[in-house]
Amino acid sequence: MSLQEDLVQIEHQAQCELEAVTTTETLAQWKSAYLGKSGAVTRLSRGLGDLSPEERPEAGRCVNALRDTLETAFAAVEEHIKAAARTATLSTDRVDITLSGRLPAVGRMHLTNQVLQKVYAIFAEMGFQIWESREVELDDYNFGLLNFPPEHPARDMQDTFYLEMPEHAPKVLLRTHTSPGQIHAMRYYAPRPLRILLPGKCYRNEQITARSEVMFHQFEFLAVGRTITMGDLKGTLSTFAERMFGKGTKVRLRASFFPFTEPSAEMDVTCYLCSGKGCRICKYTGWLEIGGCGMVHPNVLRNGGYDPEEFSGFAGGFGPERISMSKYSIDDIRWFNSGDLRFIEQFG
Ligand code: DAH
Repeated sequence: MSLQEDLVQIEHQAQCELEAVTTTETLAQWKSAYLGKSGAVTRLSRGLGDLSPEERPEAGRCVNALRDTLETAFAAVEEHIKAAARTATLSTDRVDITLSGRLPAVGRMHLTNQVLQKVYAIFAEMGFQIWESREVELDDYNFGLLNFPPEHPARDMQDTFYLEMPEHAPKVLLRTHTSPGQIHAMRYYAPRPLRILLPGKCYRNEQITARSEVMFHQFEFLAVGRTITMGDLKGTLSTFAERMFGKGTKVRLRASFFPFTEPSAEMDVTCYLCSGKGCRICKYTGWLEIGGCGMVHPNVLRNGGYDPEEFSGFAGGFGPERISMSKYSIDDIRWFNSGDLRFIEQFG
């Protein structure tokens, strides 16, 4: 076979094989087969020595021309493969900005806190300041200083969570109501007049039912001054009820008993669902029970550092869960801490 025929044959074969090349690996194999040290074109160059001196220059040019052609073809395919790889990465990695976004889960305030926020705003307008008291209390603040007699049933282990303490140490418990905060606040303010609101968690060692939970919230309000009367209590309660439950809501006080107030009362409001006509929510009485209140007992004033001859005060303790339950017809207090979003998401 003549050199010319060899050149044509090799170029044809090389171009055909190159057309089938799609990966960098096969491209490298192709390069070594044709342009490598022992490749077909290199072998042809070596064969030039066997030619006559007249033939050699022309043959040399032809072999070099083939090398150039194949190197150009190689470079083109190499670039093509690289570009294809870039596009492939782009199409797998790219962000499709036309896709609709996924909404992040947005939290909201718990129903109890929503009610408390409203309570804070209502009482703030009447000049009450928030006072956050402790949840872990001394037995004395929770009971004794609030005028509970030593044998009062609420002090029973069955009703109260006591902490394990060394012998002879003062008794420590989880507060059963927000009332012990009254003593802390009075001792801080006395003998200055005060108007405070004490919100927070309370704990009772009780059977958990639809109406009672081991942990629940209360907010306590307390006003102490030189001329405070039961009329002030009633006015404060009416204002609170109208703002909380709507205009026209009426308040009723029923005589009751608490060791720390004298006289003591339970406060009811007209049922806002039936406006007092009677319905399922108010159990056909027309009234909803909201919480206890009264005039601060002289012993409690004295324990707080006020002279009961000079000072008087009113106080009350309400449950925000109870308020929510009546307001939104919630049938079970256990929903509040269930962590069930289907419940929580209905509010706010
Ligand atoms: N501490 C009472 C309770 O947990 C509620 C209460 C009643 C608070 C009358 C008061 C009050 O301040 O005057 O049931």
